[in-house]
Amino acid sequence: MEAARVARVILLLLPLCFLEVADTTGINPCCYFPCQNKGVCVNFGREDYECDCTRTGYYGVNCTLPYFWSRVYTILKPSPSFLHHALTHYKWFWDILSNISFISDTLMRLVLVARSNMIPSPPTYNSDYNYITWEGYANVSYFTRLLPPVPKDCPTPTGTRGYKKPPDAEQLAEEFLLRRKFIPDPQGSNLMFAFFAQHFTHQFFRTDFDRGPEFTKALGHGVDLTHIYGSSLERQHHLRIFKDGKLKYQVVNGEVFPPSVKDAPIKMKYPSTLPEEKRFAIGHDLFGLLPGLMMYATIWLREHNRVCDILKEEHPTWSDEQLFQTTRLILIGETIKIVIEDYVQHLSGYNFKLRFNPELLFKEHFQYRNRIAIEFNHLYHWHPLMPDTFIVKGQEFSYKDFLFNTEVLLDIGVEDLVESFSKQRAGRVSGGKNIHQHVLKVAIGVIEHGRKLRLQPFNEYRKWFGLTPYKSFQELTGETEVAAKLEKLYGHIDAIEFFPALLLEEPQENSIFGESIVEMGAPFSLKGLMGNPICSPEYWKPSTFGGKTGFDIVNTATIQKLVCLNVKKCPYVSFHVPYDIDSDGERERKEPSTEL
Ligand code: HEM
Ligand SMILES: *[C@@H]1O[C@H](CO)[C@@H](O)[C@H](O)[C@H]1NC(C)=O
Ligand SMILES: *[C@@H]1O[C@H](CO)[C@@H](O)[C@H](O)[C@H]1NC(C)=O
Ligand SMILES: *[C@@H]1O[C@H](CO)[C@@H](O)[C@H](O)[C@H]1NC(C)=O
Repeated sequence: MEAARVARVILLLLPLCFLEVADTTGINPCCYFPCQNKGVCVNFGREDYECDCTRTGYYGVNCTLPYFWSRVYTILKPSPSFLHHALTHYKWFWDILSNISFISDTLMRLVLVARSNMIPSPPTYNSDYNYITWEGYANVSYFTRLLPPVPKDCPTPTGTRGYKKPPDAEQLAEEFLLRRKFIPDPQGSNLMFAFFAQHFTHQFFRTDFDRGPEFTKALGHGVDLTHIYGSSLERQHHLRIFKDGKLKYQVVNGEVFPPSVKDAPIKMKYPSTLPEEKRFAIGHDLFGLLPGLMMYATIWLREHNRVCDILKEEHPTWSDEQLFQTTRLILIGETIKIVIEDYVQHLSGYNFKLRFNPELLFKEHFQYRNRIAIEFNHLYHWHPLMPDTFIVKGQEFSYKDFLFNTEVLLDIGVEDLVESFSKQRAGRVSGGKNIHQHVLKVAIGVIEHGRKLRLQPFNEYRKWFGLTPYKSFQELTGETEVAAKLEKLYGHIDAIEFFPALLLEEPQENSIFGESIVEMGAPFSLKGLMGNPICSPEYWKPSTFGGKTGFDIVNTATIQKLVCLNVKKCPYVSFHVPYDIDSDGERERKEPSTEL
């Protein structure tokens, strides 16, 4: 009797099971990315979805209908390309505005607020959670995600557009990204700039490849100077003398350099053939890779010990620990100052003078926190900056001879390295076909990681940052030949991926980047810099930096001073080659300035 009932129930339920299976033909509606204006897609079963338009300023099924103020805002908002043009031209106008502190402060505040408000804070998604979770918030081993991953059950890797199988990453890189002939950056960036970029960003871009591309080893998620001091307390302690706050060093030919791993026994990545005494011990385990990185490591090491001396002089009773910790905060401040006023200033090409002044945000709603996003990491793969060969004091080095060459630093010294790197042009980043063969595999890796992490298509990112999605490949590349080939490979402009598109985008007029790297990179960058705790009202005061002297060091830092206060003879120091570049890319001589 019982058995028969069970059998009847099973028979009754059977068709239901089949219904379930047959239903898989329905496509997850969120695969169409139906929600506009940052609305959040939630699916109900296989057919239904809802867009959560809360606080987007829009309403309607797909959050497409603007409320009154959103409409006004959209009409009044100048387009990014207009603003970019205005900011990179009319030098006389910006010179005057930059000099009137009230206007200049207001503009700078506007820049900071408009840019950093684009970054969700606290962070939202990660590569394993495309909905809000506590795990996603609390587990800082993940890079965060600006946009959630494409749902796993979508018909194509980028949602619904394009083909089931994306173009072969290697083929893509070789055909569209590999350098044929070196294309110099029209903004005149040099290798001093390129190595600064690499050195600075590797403190927070440290993918944990052992665990996967979604994980990071840089748990500080920002400017914490772990690339100088090491990312664990143990590593830091190996790098310290424990006297006067100073870091260990060695003296070669009367000059200060990082210690060898014999004196500071920490793990560093070097070829196994390199003897121990030639291995520099540096906070970041990979910085033996390039003389450019070792050079910056040396400069910052000298700066640390220099600042320690200054603090010790003013505070003779302070412990080693207090001197060390306070100096570290001063160096964090110097870093942010230099990044905003020298590095970003150069990169932006803006004629408006950018200022590092945390007080500008004190009356704004601003979260002093930061989480590094995987999109920011991918966007920052600026390997096209690297030249064909490295020219140091007239001597030409191939990649093979330059990588892991620790002799270069000792033989040539900081002055001449700075001078050589400041004089050698870097490559243009956007526009395609400018990555040297030797680093092409890095780009292939990024493309593959983007796929594994199911990054949303490029156009979804365009929309998120308030840019109009591209309607065609021609519009993206600004030409027809490459565009036609890309269209064939991808099938649809809405299927092109994040990283390839950033590198293939047409550069802006006389610029290193296309529009998207700037509009997407700037928010991440400024949020990361200003979200640092030293910029908060509780920290941003002289006492944090040991008094007025330390605070002044932060507030007057420049890349030129950083170098010249730490060498015997001041070389040419700049992020720009020592001559002007007119719009035809022709060179015009300009006297290099070496004054402080
Ligand atoms: C000759 C110079 C360079 C070499 C040999 C090189 C090589 C590499 C390698 C092997 C990786 C790891 C990639 C992987 O395993 O998937 C990497 C990552 C990276 N590179 Fe470079 N690179 C160079 C210059 C630069 C420069 C100038 C930048 C400028 C910003 C840069 C930015 C990055 C970034 C952001 C990452 C990701 C780091 C991470 O998440 O761990 N690289 N590079
Ligand atoms: C919402 O978006 C979906 C998917 O893109 C589309 O099919 C639908 O027509 C849209 N509905 C409205 C009311 O705009
Ligand atoms: C801005 O002000 C400084 C100092 O007052 C002055 O030296 C400089 O020439 C001014 N620049 C312009 C463009 O007015
Ligand atoms: C973070 O998540 C990863 C993957 O689920 C896990 O292995 C790791 O233990 C988590 N970390 C912490 C601190 O919970």
